[in-house]
Amino acid sequence: MHADIDRVAVLGAGNMGHGITEVVAMAGYEVTMRDVEPAFVEEGYGEIEWSLEKLAEKDRLDESPAAVLSRIETTTDLEMAVDDADLVVEAAPEELDLKREIFADLDELAPAGAILASNTSSLPITDVAAATDRSERVVGTHFFNPPVKMDLVEVIYGDETADETAETAAEFVESIDRTPIDVREDVRGFVVNTVLGPFGDEAAWMVSEGETEVREADATMVHERGYPMGPFELSDMTGIDIGYRVRTEAGEPIPPIVEEKVEREELGRKTGVGYYDYGDGAASETLQADGDAGDAGNGDGVDYTADDVSEAFDWLRIEARIIDEAAGLVGQGVATPEDIDTGLRLGAGFPEGPCRRADKLGLDTVLEKLETLQEATGAERYEPSNHLRELVEAGRTGEDAGAGFYEYGADAGRDYTTIDVELRDGLLTVTLDRTERLNALNRDMMDEIVHVLETADLETVRAVTFEGAGDRAFSAGADVTGFAGVDPHEVEVTPVFRTVAEFPRPTLAKIDGYCLGGGHELALACDLRIATTDSEFGFPEIDLGLIPGGGGTQRVVRMLTEARAKELVFRGNRIDADTAEDWGLINRAVPEAEFGTTVEEFVDDLVSGPPVALRKAKQVMDEGRDADIDAGLRMESQAFGLLLSTEDTSEGAEAFTADREPEFEGR
Ligand code: COA
Repeated sequence: MHADIDRVAVLGAGNMGHGITEVVAMAGYEVTMRDVEPAFVEEGYGEIEWSLEKLAEKDRLDESPAAVLSRIETTTDLEMAVDDADLVVEAAPEELDLKREIFADLDELAPAGAILASNTSSLPITDVAAATDRSERVVGTHFFNPPVKMDLVEVIYGDETADETAETAAEFVESIDRTPIDVREDVRGFVVNTVLGPFGDEAAWMVSEGETEVREADATMVHERGYPMGPFELSDMTGIDIGYRVRTEAGEPIPPIVEEKVEREELGRKTGVGYYDYGDGAASETLQADGDAGDAGNGDGVDYTADDVSEAFDWLRIEARIIDEAAGLVGQGVATPEDIDTGLRLGAGFPEGPCRRADKLGLDTVLEKLETLQEATGAERYEPSNHLRELVEAGRTGEDAGAGFYEYGADAGRDYTTIDVELRDGLLTVTLDRTERLNALNRDMMDEIVHVLETADLETVRAVTFEGAGDRAFSAGADVTGFAGVDPHEVEVTPVFRTVAEFPRPTLAKIDGYCLGGGHELALACDLRIATTDSEFGFPEIDLGLIPGGGGTQRVVRMLTEARAKELVFRGNRIDADTAEDWGLINRAVPEAEFGTTVEEFVDDLVSGPPVALRKAKQVMDEGRDADIDAGLRMESQAFGLLLSTEDTSEGAEAFTADREPEFEGR
C-alpha cells in the first residue's frame, strides 16, 4: 500500500466505479463507493460480491470475499464519502459538465492534501481540473474495462498537474497491482486510443475502397499479424458509432463504410448487426459482463477463419499508420516508446508494442509506405510525423541499424522489451515480463534472455535468478499465439535453453504460479528451482499435438524416474509444487510467506561462493551426467587439481583457520 494513502473514495458505482472499488479494496485499502441513488450503489456492490466470488472460485483471492468486502463502505452522501479521503477517483459518466460539477464539489469537500483523480477515456483532464482551485492536485487515471481483469492504467497529466501528484498516482496504481503508463500531455484519446485509432480506421478505408473484405481483413490481422481480434470484430464490439463520433469530433474524414453503417443503424453487437450479423438477441450483454472478447468464430456472428487469410492483404497500410501515431506521441513528448508499447500490449492486447514492431519492420520501410500512400491519395492521414522522419534521417531505422525507437547495441545498453534486468551485489535478476500473456515466451523474450547472458560481465555476475512478473505465473509456456502462420520448415531451434543451461554461473528459477511448457523448460535449464506451494508444473504441449521442444523431454527423463517423466509428458497434466518437490523436480516448495527468505538463503550462498569452484562443479556435474562414470571421474579430478592452485582455495583455507567468512575473488 502507498504510504501517503489510507482512505480512497470512488465516485460512481457503474461498470468502472464498482470495478475500481473492488481492485482498490483487494489491495488492502479502505474504500468508500458513492453513487447518487441507493439503487445504483446496491447494484454496484452486488457486482463486486459476484466478482469476488468468481475470483475466490478460481483461487485468485488471497483472503475471503468477506474480508475484502469489509473494507468497502457505500454511501450516496458525497461529503461523507470524501471527507477523510487521501485519494478520490471519480468514475461518473463521460460528460464533461457533470465531471466539472463533481470536481467543483470536491474542491469544497475533499481534504486539502487529497489527490483528485478522474477516470475518463476521452475528456480533457485540464478542463475537468479547471473546475477546482487546485488543478495541480488533479490527475487523470484511465482504467480499462473491466478493471478487475485489465492490468493497465493511463496516468494523465493535465496542463497544470504537479509532477508529484502524477507520481503519487502512478505509485498508487502500482500498489493495487496495476501497471501505470505516463501520458505527459493531455492529448485527445491519450495514448492507447490514439495509437489504436488507425487499426479500425484504415481497415475501414481499405474495405470502402474495395481493396479487401471484412473477413479477409480480420482473419489476416489475427492469424498473420497476431492481434487478439480483427479490426471489424473490434468495432462491432465497441460500437461502430463510438469510433464515428470520436472521428467526427476530431474533424477527420469518415470512411464511407462506417458512414453507411451508422446511417443504417447497424452499429455492431448492441444492435444485432454491424459488420457481422449477430442474429436476434445480440450478445453484447454477456460480452460486457465477462469482458471476454477473444473468441472469434464461435458461432456468435463473427465467422471468419484462418482460411480467410489473404497473402495479398496490405497490412502494412494499417501498421504504418499505427506506428506513425506512436512516433507522433514520442515526438511531442507525450509518452516514451516503452510506455506506448506497454500501453498497447496491456490495454489493447497487441502481441508486441508498435514501437518494437516498427524497429523490426524498419522505420524506413514504414516511412516509405506512408509517403507512397500520401502521394497516391493526397490524404492527410498519411502525412508522416516529424519524429518518424527525424528517426529515419538520423539513421535510426530499427533493429538492423542498431537503433530505432529502442537501442540494440551488441553490448550492454540495449533496451529490452519483454524482460527486466537488474544487477545488484553480484546477482543478475532476470524478470520475464509479459504479464498479459502469463509471461509466455515469444521470440523477442528468448532472444533478449540470450543477449543478457551473452553480454553479462562475468567479473561481476556471480549468480542469476529468473522469475516471472506479476503474481500468477513464472511462465505459461511458449506463446501459443505466435504459432499461427509458422512454416514448419522455418522453425529454428532457439538457443535460449542451451544458453541458460551452459551459463558459467549458478542459475536459480524462482517460481510463483504457473510453470508450464517452455517456461517449465526454462526453469529446468536452471541449476536450482524454488517454488511457492501454489505453483503448478506441467507440459501441456501434448494437448496441442506437440511435444516439449526446449530440452524438456531429455531433462525430465534424466532428472526423474522414467515413469514420472513420461507421465508428465504423455498426459499433459499439471502437478503441484509439493509433488514436484517429492519427485525431485524442484529443490524446495515453500509457502508464499517463506518464499523470499528461502530464495535469499540460496542466493547468498551462490553469490558469496567461490566462482571458479562453482563453475567447475557445474561443468563437471552437467557433463559428467551424460558421460560414463570413468570419464566423469576424470573430469572431476582434473577440475579438482586445477582448483587446488587457485587463490580462492588459499583464501578458503586461511579463512577456515582464522575462523572468519572467506572472501572469494574468482581467481
Ligand atoms: N501463450 C499465449 N498466451 C497465453 C499463454 C501462452 N502459452 N498462456 C496464457 N496466455 C494468455 C491467455 O490467452 C490469457 O490472455 P487473454 O486474457 O487475452 O485471454 C492470459 O494469458 C491469461 O490466461 P488465462 O487462460 O485467462 O488464465 P487461466 O488462469 O484461466 O489459465 C492457464 C491459465 C496457464 C492454465 C492457461 O492460460 C493455459 O492453459 N495456457 C496455455 C498453456 C500452454 O499450452 N503452454 C504451452 C505452450 S507450448
